[in-house]
Amino acid sequence: MTDALGLFISLEGIDGSGKSTQSRRLAERMRAWGRDPVLTREPGGAPGAEDIRRLLVEGDPARWSPETEILLFTAARRDHLERTIRPALASGRDVVTDRFADSTRVYQGTTRGDLRALVDTIHAAAIGVEPDLTLILDMDPAVALERGLARSSGEDRFEEFGLDFQTRLRAGFLALAQEAAARCVVIDAMAAPETVAARIAEVVQTRL
Ligand code: TYD
Repeated sequence: MTDALGLFISLEGIDGSGKSTQSRRLAERMRAWGRDPVLTREPGGAPGAEDIRRLLVEGDPARWSPETEILLFTAARRDHLERTIRPALASGRDVVTDRFADSTRVYQGTTRGDLRALVDTIHAAAIGVEPDLTLILDMDPAVALERGLARSSGEDRFEEFGLDFQTRLRAGFLALAQEAAARCVVIDAMAAPETVAARIAEVVQTRL
């Protein structure tokens, strides 16, 4: 992120692609390198944003219209940026976030009606920054869906949209990786977790 001292890294991918595990492993690896990353996630990552998260991930899949979702995710992101991301980067710490704006571009922007223009407008007005590096964890949605549902966290509003939805998400993330090729790297997430972690570490090391 411009003007920031630390490195801003996001992990993206469909539900159940292993982002949470890999974010944690990356942060551990960076600590072993002597860095002091802040590990965070979206929706959430700050107290107010976590409150908004509950509105988004629990309840009926049709609870919000896609337009309302964009506003809620962006409100949570703004809080996350103000309270957690910017202060960390400004103090020289790296930030590793499990999801950021690319999730809104793909989940709300391209999979449920063509709302990408609205997502971009709201992002430009309220957020206006991108990660320095985005790792897109790519995997077969059938496998990912199984893993996601198996977790049964009560936060499965999005997983409940089903396999077709996850398939469109995968295509959306891969398209985005091409569109924003300067900051995006696609990681094969079907490999063993240790292999995925090693590949991620390799990519991050080249950016430090
Ligand atoms: P996440 O916490 O990553 O779910 P999980 O840990 O179960 O993989 O995100 C919760 C859900 O919110 C997930 O299905 C993706 C969705 N989401 C959006 O639709 N738009 C967004 O902008 C973000 C950040 C998440």
